[in-house]
Amino acid sequence: MDKSALSERLAEAGQSHILQFWEELSPEEQAGLAQDLQGMDLLEVNGFFQAAMELSGSAKQEKVDNHMEPIPRGVLGSVTRDRDSLQAWEEQGLRCVSQSQVAVLLLAGGQGTRLGVSYPKGMYNVGLPSHKTLFQIQAERVLKLQQLAESKHNTKCSIPWYIMTSGRTMQSTKDFFSRHSYFGLSPDNVIFFQQGMLPAMDYNGKIIMESKAKLAMAPDGNGGLYRALGSQGIVENMSSRGVKFLHVYCVDNILVKVADPAFIGFCVTKGGDCGNKVVEKTNPTEAVGVVCKVDERYQVVEYSEITLATAEKRNADGRLMFNAANVANHFFTLDFLRDVVQIHEPQLRHHVAQKKIPYVDPQGRLITPDKPNGIKMEKFVFDIFQFAKKFVVFEVLREDEFSPLKNADSQDGKDTPSTARHALLSLHHRWVLNAGGHFIDENGTRVPAIPSLKDGTDLPIKCEISPLVSYGGEGLEELVAGKEFRPTLVIDKDGAHQLVKNGV
Ligand code: UTP
Repeated sequence: MDKSALSERLAEAGQSHILQFWEELSPEEQAGLAQDLQGMDLLEVNGFFQAAMELSGSAKQEKVDNHMEPIPRGVLGSVTRDRDSLQAWEEQGLRCVSQSQVAVLLLAGGQGTRLGVSYPKGMYNVGLPSHKTLFQIQAERVLKLQQLAESKHNTKCSIPWYIMTSGRTMQSTKDFFSRHSYFGLSPDNVIFFQQGMLPAMDYNGKIIMESKAKLAMAPDGNGGLYRALGSQGIVENMSSRGVKFLHVYCVDNILVKVADPAFIGFCVTKGGDCGNKVVEKTNPTEAVGVVCKVDERYQVVEYSEITLATAEKRNADGRLMFNAANVANHFFTLDFLRDVVQIHEPQLRHHVAQKKIPYVDPQGRLITPDKPNGIKMEKFVFDIFQFAKKFVVFEVLREDEFSPLKNADSQDGKDTPSTARHALLSLHHRWVLNAGGHFIDENGTRVPAIPSLKDGTDLPIKCEISPLVSYGGEGLEELVAGKEFRPTLVIDKDGAHQLVKNGV
């Protein structure tokens, strides 16, 4: 092991402390540390740190209120306000799917720290009657949509599914898919790739050591996507398959409509190169990012970047003026993505996430801090909106499409396994009601369509419909119309057979 060459490189980058415990390490540990450093451009990392700290300093000082404009109606489509166009958009989207022009891209490189599990979040089972995991639900939606497009257009098609993992989630994600036979998808159409990792830094720009022999490494944010797409040849892979349009989304939204034909069709019809799905923000103090124009360019403005007065502004119709809440569901054309990867990505600066990062102190003791002691550097997937030539926005209903899993269960918790499970069950309950089905209680009495909260519980009716049976509520009439069901109702599919299990 050439320690002197390593020392020289580290000294040049002001990171000599990394070798402080070198003499105490075993030859294997030394080799491991040297290898980790080998693959890292330390001067680049220092540059990222400086740029990220500058960006975060300026963001703290300047609120963007005076530069913000709401989204013009001309680039906005809405499932509630544009009902007349919805069917045409959906048909357009399904046509694109049937021609194998649409791919989905899943961001699944996060560490899921708040949820507190040691495995990838997509493997989480929120406790549905079927015990399906997030990965399985999404895989089955991909499969069903493929089938819907095929039968409508009497053709064969595929929806390639690109799954971005990180060093921390790659192997377990791949193993999980392989153990479950890719949930019925063709393995050729499930493409895993890995985002980059960056070291965590202290506030002085020194790389944090998580042990005497290991740097504290973390994925470089979901915007690490763009660098990974280039470095791993994914854009070429998409191009060679004839993909033209991408739906990019996060693993943790249990209601996500993967490759939603209405969204794809809307963006394609409007000629958008970059599109964002949003839900309406109704509470001014809700801590979500909103999409708007800032100095003529589109971006997501975080709640912390605006004053309360701006957050509270309302239009004449009573809605919040800045109400387009970002739910991390994006549409990109492949041409746009290629430009981002080849031209714009290096211009994107990392954001600073202050974290409590366990570290080894100069005395060699492992310290678990109780307040933030350093930063992780992350790019965000939506950082590229500013480069769009034609940006479009599609508004959908939160209760139909957005319920993220972020936190572990707790009393009155937000975005937990319970809230995700309830959101899915109540959506499926509504699907059955809309298709003409009814629910009865244990005494045989019809349950009112709008549940009463009299008894203090607001638990949803237990009703789960496999994505293999219905992608978005379609095709249920023949199974449920005019019938009465006793919860739990599970509608599933086994091979070619639809199974309606009542009162299970
Ligand atoms: P979050 O920011 O909610 O992070 O990610 P997380 O990792 O899921 O959870 P915490 O913050 O550690 O508790 C939003 C989405 O972005 C993906 C996640 O997998 C999730 O789908 N993501 C996040 C990445 O793909 N890479 C990253 O580096 C970070």
